Order: sequence, then C-alpha cells, then structure tokens
Amino acid sequence: MIDMTTKKPLVNGVQIPCLAFGTCTVERKPYAGYTVGAVEKALRNGFRLIDTATCYENEGEVGQAMRESGIAREDIFVLTKMWNDNMRQGTQREAIEYSLKELDTDYVDAYLLHWPVPGKYIESWKYMEEFYEKGMARSIGVSNFEIDQLESLFASCRIKPMINQIEVHPYNTRKELIHFCKENDIAVMAWSPLHRGLILNDPVLETIAEKYGKTTAQITLRWDIQNGVIPIPGATDEDLIRQNTQLFDFELVQEEMAAIDALNQNLYEGDPHNFDW
Ligand SMILES: NC(=O)c1ccc[n+]([C@@H]2O[C@H](COP(=O)([O-])OP(=O)(O)OC[C@H]3O[C@@H](n4cnc5c(N)ncnc54)[C@H](OP(=O)(O)O)[C@@H]3O)[C@@H](O)[C@H]2O)c1
Repeated sequence: MIDMTTKKPLVNGVQIPCLAFGTCTVERKPYAGYTVGAVEKALRNGFRLIDTATCYENEGEVGQAMRESGIAREDIFVLTKMWNDNMRQGTQREAIEYSLKELDTDYVDAYLLHWPVPGKYIESWKYMEEFYEKGMARSIGVSNFEIDQLESLFASCRIKPMINQIEVHPYNTRKELIHFCKENDIAVMAWSPLHRGLILNDPVLETIAEKYGKTTAQITLRWDIQNGVIPIPGATDEDLIRQNTQLFDFELVQEEMAAIDALNQNLYEGDPHNFDW
C-alpha cells in the first residue's frame, strides 16, 4: 500500500518521498512573490519534498516557508540545483554556499546539476562528490541527463548520481531512459508532469479520469507513481495543490497504463542535447 507518506530509499539509503512539490513556475511572472504561500500550502497539504533551484530565484522564499511551517527540518526533503552559469564560470563552490545560505540550512537533501552543460558537467560532478562527502548534500544527482551523458559521467565519477530529474509526461514518456536509470539505481523524478497543463484535455486521459471520478491531472500523476517515478507538480491554487495529493485511493490497470504510454510523441520542452541556457 502506497500513500502520501510513502518514501523509498535512494541507493545510499536516504529516504525520498514518492511525491514532490515544484516551485519553478510559482516565482515566475505573473506569479512573482507567490513561493512562500505556495510552499506553505504544499506543506500544509502533506507534501514533504520541495523542489527548487538557484535559477528559480526563490530559494530564500522556500527556506522562509520551511521555517514558518513549524515542521522539523529533518522531516522536509529539500532539493535544489546548481545552475549552468556556475558550471560555466567555475563557481561551483559558491553555488552550493549560496543555496545553503538562501535556504537557511546546513545541508540539502539532494543537490543536482541542473543541465548537462557541454564540456563542464564532468568537472562539475567532482565538486558534487566533494559536497556529498562533506555532508552539504545528503544525496547528489543530475537533471536532464540522457543515457549517453550518464554513461560519460559513469566513466569518470567515483560516486554515481543517485537521482535524475527529467521531463516526463504522457507526451514524452522517456521509457528507455527511465529503464536505464532503474537498472543503474538512479531514482527518476518527473518535471512538468502535467506538461504545464497541455495534457489536461487529452481525450484518453479524460476517459480514464471519468471512470475513477478523478481529474486528468490526477490520472497523470498516478501513472508516474505506478511507473516508479516521482512526479513534481507545481501549483499555486490550494485546491489544485490538494488535488495533486489525492492519488492514493485508486489504481490504474495495466491497459490504462499502456494507453497512457501510447500517447507518447517525444515532445520536449527542453532538449538535453540542444539547449542554449
Ligand atoms: N529540472 C528541470 O530542468 C525542471 C524544469 C522545469 C520544471 N522543473 C520542476 O518541475 C516542477 C513542475 O513543472 P511545471 O511547473 O513547469 O509544470 P507542471 O507541474 O506540469 O504544470 C504546472 C501548471 O499546471 C497547473 N496545475 C497544477 N496542478 C493542476 C491540476 N491538478 N489541475 C490543473 N492544473 C494544474 C498549475 O496551475 P497554477 O500554478 O495556476 O496553480 C501550473 O499552471 C517545477 O515547478 C519545477 O520544480 C524542473
């Protein structure tokens, strides 16, 4: 039986919640200033994994919401990411020090390389190993890494990434990469799990949603969980935040899982082999 409080062990034994709350869009226009409120609502509704990043420019607000929640620090899993400019400029140490200060914490539960910056991610990973060994990060991982990029990292690393946070939604199902990560003991997290709302009116999802008396968003997030993937829905509206936790009182059957898999169009919002940020 899986529920909102279910965690699973990363390869190093650190327990990670099965559902995460995303804070990327909440700090972007027209949402500027909404992070504290959104994270408070998320924590109030049971989310215990908060996903942020230096480039979201809201780590300070995430830290404020964590402090004000009254929830013990060790009961919240906070994940942040090293931005690409820090890899390019050689300011990897400054990057994690900045994040820890902004979040007002001595350690993060997970620290990820945000994108596989060509020519920079191998050397940046050595810093990640150092941060892990120093206890600044309880786990380390990557984001937006494809199989070839993971393989080149494996060839030079001492500690393998424990997490890969990638774009996953019904229009980009990433089956091969998810399988590869599982084979290599890498937990997979799904960013933009609702494809920023673009999957919500899909007729296949609507038919399944009607059967269970759920929304298409809930069907999609449940599909992630049954795939062993940790979804990271972002929302500001408390009704939607709550809705995104109500995923544990039904189970999709195999035909429904396959019908959602079949929606794949390999549709990327961000292509890890071709990005210019
Ligand atoms: N690692 C990376 O490179 C990367 C890249 C992108 C995102 N991320 C992470 O992934 C998180 C989620 O991605 P995202 O915010 O881009 O996309 P998303 O979660 O797929 O979609 C967010 C949008 O869907 C709406 N929404 C949320 N729950 C809903 C529901 N139950 N029903 C209907 N609409 C709903 C939100 O509404 P409201 O906001 O209006 O409430 C928001 O407009 C980010 O916050 C960030 O933490 C990581």
